[in-house]
Amino acid sequence: MALKWWQSAVFYQIYPRSWADSNGDGIGDLDGITAHLDYLNGGPDSLGIDAIWLNPINPSPLKDWGYDVSDYCGVHPDYGDLAAFDRLVSEAHRRGIRVLVDLVPNHTSDQHPWFIESRSSKTNPKRDWYIWVPGTRDKLPNNWLSTFGGPAWKFDERTEAWYLHIFLAEQPDLNYRNPEVVEAMHDVLRFWLGRGADGFRIDVVAGLIKDAQLRDNPIRTASDPDIPWYAQGSQDPLYSTDRPEVHDIIRGFRRVSDSYDSRARDERVLLGETWPRSQEHLADYLRPDELHLGFNFRFLLARYDAGRFRAAIEQTEKSFGANAWPTWTLSNHDFMRHISRYSRDGDGEARARVAAVMIMALRGTPFVYYGEEIGMREVKVPGDRKRDPVGRDGCRTPMQWSDSRNGGFSGAAETWLPCGDFKSINVAKQMNDPHSMLSLYRRLIRLRKESTALTEGSYRSFDGGPGDCLVFHRETESQHLHATESQHLIVALNFAATPRKIDTPAGKILLSTTIERAGESAGAPLKLGANEAVILDVGR
Ligand code: NOJ
Ligand code: CA
Repeated sequence: MALKWWQSAVFYQIYPRSWADSNGDGIGDLDGITAHLDYLNGGPDSLGIDAIWLNPINPSPLKDWGYDVSDYCGVHPDYGDLAAFDRLVSEAHRRGIRVLVDLVPNHTSDQHPWFIESRSSKTNPKRDWYIWVPGTRDKLPNNWLSTFGGPAWKFDERTEAWYLHIFLAEQPDLNYRNPEVVEAMHDVLRFWLGRGADGFRIDVVAGLIKDAQLRDNPIRTASDPDIPWYAQGSQDPLYSTDRPEVHDIIRGFRRVSDSYDSRARDERVLLGETWPRSQEHLADYLRPDELHLGFNFRFLLARYDAGRFRAAIEQTEKSFGANAWPTWTLSNHDFMRHISRYSRDGDGEARARVAAVMIMALRGTPFVYYGEEIGMREVKVPGDRKRDPVGRDGCRTPMQWSDSRNGGFSGAAETWLPCGDFKSINVAKQMNDPHSMLSLYRRLIRLRKESTALTEGSYRSFDGGPGDCLVFHRETESQHLHATESQHLIVALNFAATPRKIDTPAGKILLSTTIERAGESAGAPLKLGANEAVILDVGR
């Protein structure tokens, strides 16, 4: 089975404002990213990742840090300009790194010229580009709630009508029932694909189109134990998200992106921020004419528990079938960093190492959030330095490159967000330390590249292990391959803080979080230390 590039790739998420500052203003920028690409790929010590996803770089009033776009076809001056973007793309491509940009199609900034026009009068040609409901200030159009709190509607005095905002009031929702909006967004895709972008991470993709009658959402009754209440909300967003028509909108995006594929450049990729109403619907977004990839948020929400992770994996494997390709993510710019989540009731560092082996050894495409490869912690941001309206600053702090000023991120007197503990956690310190988190990530990515079982092999749960261990097989189907290429691996993750034994056959340890064990011939049963993760080659 020949995999597509986005199936065998390891992705790396860059928060551009916080990765590398090239001009000393305390804000990360595109030239800063370009200057640090060797860290990611192209050199002998590189991490070895294949693609980056950049959080939004468009002009924006930054009320939601770029997720409030005021010009889809430009670059915010804080980050550089289009020429800097072009330099970044060509330097990335030279190193075999593809570049995905963030597309925010669900809403614009209230400062976007489209919205300024739309709100100017009831007869403006762009009036219907947003979701307006005429009425009076004392009666909300329906019961929908903003993800960020309060009603999802704002009353606009000038034309005496409400407009919909599923996020901040400064982020009015576009109306995808209007074909002009669809066409305008297609032009945005064309703009970036034409400049060499390899695809898009698509924000709020499941919510792009709303119920035509704007019916009230039902109050949530059942609660999913794997999803904390804050991610569920008090309502079931039946009429505001995951509507059947959304799939047509996505198919339209896919047609545009497919039209840029060429044999020379491979496929461009659509990666969705997929929050369906129910996890069972995730695969619907990944049908062959829809998204190539969609985030699976189960790991971001699951507490550190072998059973929870096993359930998430099994459910994904079962519902995805042969057509949809899984993705695995532990952290992103919206959630507390996983190492800090795992530290609340255990050894976060050791657990994060186990989790790294897990995402790199599962069947599917892994995503690394900048800094997780060095074990960056969530940073406690003091009140007067807080920047995000809903408290997500702690996972967005500057990348920790070294122990010098601002962790090597910037020469500025002050950085836009405070830095974490870069004296003890930084790239330079970990670069040549074989025991470091960075070395573990590098070894994992390298092993993944070398192993057909890890990239394209099948997944099968290993039965009979202790409940607090997660154990699975990764296997290439020997009948399709030369015998020498076939591989049978067992991945054994001990989530317990005490040693465990697993009834595996004897084999050779290819990788362990206890680095001294690499190359060891392990007899049966396999002995795992506390919080140890092992990739074992058991031959055929
Ligand atoms: C999801 C993004 O990841 C988040 O950062 C943003 O606030 C919302 N979508 C709204 O665009
Ligand atoms: Ca800068």
